[in-house]
Amino acid sequence: MIASISALTLLVSKLAFQAGKPVQGLVTIAFLLLVIGFASLASYFSAKAGGKYMTQFYRFNSKLGRTIDYYFDVVFWQHEIGRSIRLYDDNKTITNKARQLLDDQVHEDQRLQVLSSKVKGLGTIVVNVGIGLMYAVIALAGYLHQISIGQVVAYVGYLSAVVTALGQFMGAYGRKDSALETISQYFEFTAFQKAGTQSQALKGQVKQMSPFATIVFDDVSFRYPGAAQDAISHVSFTLDSGVHMALVGKNGSGKSTLIKLLLRLEKPTSGRITMDGVDIATLPNYEAYFSCVFQKTVQYAVSLKENIMLNLPDDEGRLQQAIDFAGLTALVAKLPAGVDTSLTKYVDEEGVELSGGEAQKLCIARAWYRGAMINVMDDPTSALDPHAETEIFQKLSTLSKQQTALLVSHRMGFARDCDRILVLDHGRLVESGAHATLMSEKGQYFQLFSAQAGLYT
Ligand SMILES: Nc1ncnc2c1ncn2[C@@H]1O[C@H](COP(=O)(O)OP(=O)(O)OP(=O)(O)O)[C@@H](O)[C@H]1O
Ligand SMILES: [Mg+2]
Repeated sequence: MIASISALTLLVSKLAFQAGKPVQGLVTIAFLLLVIGFASLASYFSAKAGGKYMTQFYRFNSKLGRTIDYYFDVVFWQHEIGRSIRLYDDNKTITNKARQLLDDQVHEDQRLQVLSSKVKGLGTIVVNVGIGLMYAVIALAGYLHQISIGQVVAYVGYLSAVVTALGQFMGAYGRKDSALETISQYFEFTAFQKAGTQSQALKGQVKQMSPFATIVFDDVSFRYPGAAQDAISHVSFTLDSGVHMALVGKNGSGKSTLIKLLLRLEKPTSGRITMDGVDIATLPNYEAYFSCVFQKTVQYAVSLKENIMLNLPDDEGRLQQAIDFAGLTALVAKLPAGVDTSLTKYVDEEGVELSGGEAQKLCIARAWYRGAMINVMDDPTSALDPHAETEIFQKLSTLSKQQTALLVSHRMGFARDCDRILVLDHGRLVESGAHATLMSEKGQYFQLFSAQAGLYT
């Protein structure tokens, strides 16, 4: 490029001064510089705009990918949803909506890609028109015998090299923002992968955790991204080691969200959660303190035994105790290959489909097998028949005082047996205390309990 610029200067001085027409020469210089500058700016802006549309395209493409995954891997794949669609969607609303949504999104994807290509193409046209104009000026200089034919050929080469190199430089500069955005997505992804790997490595350490005294929620608030209001709002309480705590409240009051915060599956928007004074976000082995049953059951397409043990060490005696605790003994006896029977038909066609209640018992067995210090159970018996539910709650209430528990349930009878009860309402902690105290206060707990009182008298 340096050689080309020198050649350009040479040409300009030749045109301007050797021809004895300095004004005409200066106008030519200005014209050439203007064309070069304009072509460079066109490269810059077209690359910048094209990059912006491509970034939008990549972002939109991931949304399109999610939509495709949702319909093809979830809605049109899972048996439960298939049954519901066959029963409720006889006029094909869901299928048509999927088709419409995919059509719209593919269309938007195409629009962004075409727009990006057009903008970049426009930049290329401007640069080439600029080169063409300069060719014309050089050709004119040759025609007027101000430069020789050999010089025309040399200058044409130099000039197009200058414009192309400058155009590439400015284009690369214009693409900088979109390129940086793309690379930042890569770094976000690799950082996320590292966090995931760290949690995986903890699984074998459940048994070796040192005792803790308290977990403290200190003015904790949490808002889901994009939500209009907090799901948890200024909640403070202490969970002491060995205490069995109940968490109650109406649907949507924030119980599951509070559990996600406790398990650090979500980070507080404000406030702090500490274990013995240390922010849980900084504790390396924190997950190993917990055995959990989530509100939604989780089954893997592996054997029943592997579903319970996951990646903890194999202990047949303990496995049997977990199965007994969760009330799965009779079911296992009936299974074709006992504890080695595969669950679900996703991978193994011979696999067994569990009922809703059986799947919930499986999750309870998994939590029991893990045997961590703190049991967190979010509505663990919602799908169980009354007999199985009573049995599970009786067993849970006899968990040793070595084991701390945080239990959520809409069956209020279980709360009576807990040491302490927290009542959530619209994300706020509205009442807290033992059953007798809260009953005497005649507040929300009293109302919730009284609504089911007939069941427990
Ligand atoms: N992933 C999410 N994104 C956005 N909002 C959410 C999400 N999960 C829950 N919410 C909202 O947060 C609030 C609290 O929900 P949460 O699941 O904690 O309630 P809950 O007390 O567990 O209810 P339930 O008794 O029905 O299980 C609700 O208003 C809910 O709509
Ligand atoms: Mg919930």
